[in-house]
Amino acid sequence: MRLKDTKVTAQELKDMAEKYMVETYERYDFIAERAEGMYLYDEEGNAYLDFYGGVAVNSPGNRNKQVEEAVKDQLGDIVHTFNYPYTIPQALLAKKICDAIGMDKIFYQNSGTEANECMIKMARKYGVDHYGPEKYHIVTAKNSFHGRTFGGMSATGQPDSAVQEGFGPMVPGFSYAEFNNLDDFESKVTEHTIAIMIEPVQGEGGVHPASQEFIEGLRRLCDEKELLLLFDEVQTGWGRTGAVMAYMGYGVKPDAVSMAKAMGGGLPIGACCARKEVAEALSAGTHGSTYGGHALACAASLASVSEILEKDLSRNAREMGRYMKKQLSKLPHVKEARGRGLLVGCEYDIPIAAEVKHGCLERMALITSIGDSVNRMIPPLIVTKEQIDELMFIMRAAIQDAAEKYEEMRLAG
Ligand SMILES: Cc1ncc(COP(=O)(O)O)c(C=O)c1O
Repeated sequence: MRLKDTKVTAQELKDMAEKYMVETYERYDFIAERAEGMYLYDEEGNAYLDFYGGVAVNSPGNRNKQVEEAVKDQLGDIVHTFNYPYTIPQALLAKKICDAIGMDKIFYQNSGTEANECMIKMARKYGVDHYGPEKYHIVTAKNSFHGRTFGGMSATGQPDSAVQEGFGPMVPGFSYAEFNNLDDFESKVTEHTIAIMIEPVQGEGGVHPASQEFIEGLRRLCDEKELLLLFDEVQTGWGRTGAVMAYMGYGVKPDAVSMAKAMGGGLPIGACCARKEVAEALSAGTHGSTYGGHALACAASLASVSEILEKDLSRNAREMGRYMKKQLSKLPHVKEARGRGLLVGCEYDIPIAAEVKHGCLERMALITSIGDSVNRMIPPLIVTKEQIDELMFIMRAAIQDAAEKYEEMRLAG
């Protein structure tokens, strides 16, 4: 849909959105009318260099041609029918994903938070079925993020944040341990615990990768205590961290994994994959979803994961991520450039992240900020060295401006 065909001006459109939509987002002040590859375009055709990729979704590139063709093709056959009959994209996608990541079974959902709901339900049902009604507790990490539905919110280890605060009681059965601290996780395990759930790299929490020892230690702990190890790979999955799934890069396999975002290449889809015994905790009537396994979303996903696998975008994520971190660490005020693959965080020694984000936007580049002092870059996995250089040029100028403003404010008290 193009603005010129609507009889509405750009300002009228923005006003309309603000008047009629429940706004929980801090908007970038432009209309994204078109997208292609590494760029978004506004209604006047101005190009924005995209280093947030629809929040780690458009990994094979904005409006990837294969995804687009698959959607058009599927649109001509069947869009939605619910899960009574078999559909072709569902079955082909299930085999493709399970084969690629070494899991036995998949359950389709529509988003990341739903994928986590499914994983949490699977683990709790497995615990109750195998060990009795009190065996349903899950230990997750402090500062984690697992979504906005009640299961996802409750699993999120940020009790005083806007994610949980003001919504009444959370779902019982979750406790939180310090990320990358094996002893703390071990101390939170009780006779009621059935699972440990983490993100291999905490994304929304400020881009903190799990250490190799921590991940290996969690696997050992789970094996010793007969617990399930659950990985939330909604953000880290499908090439983002330089491996197809982040756990494949660590060489540590969970019992179940959730995914979404890049899986659909832009269409909404999520899933939980698990080894057979865990997946089979969910049987007829115990779980379901009207849209989960939607034919159009599955066709898009089949194209998206095929692009990521066949073009080996994980490798580009590894190489470009390494390059970006090296270049970021040369910028002024950068205290640490960290992350894994193309999930990259840049922490400053002063609280300028929001200002740097706005400075980049003014210079036609899109990045995100987390808290006061971290910017996060999660571009499509097709990004080139030249585009990273372009971003570094823009960020340098944005950091200098933001630091000057901060200094002026500090002196003015
Ligand atoms: C690790 C993680 N889990 C879950 C979610 C929730 O996904 P969704 O917004 O698709 O529900 C996100 C979203 O950013 C995420 O990063």
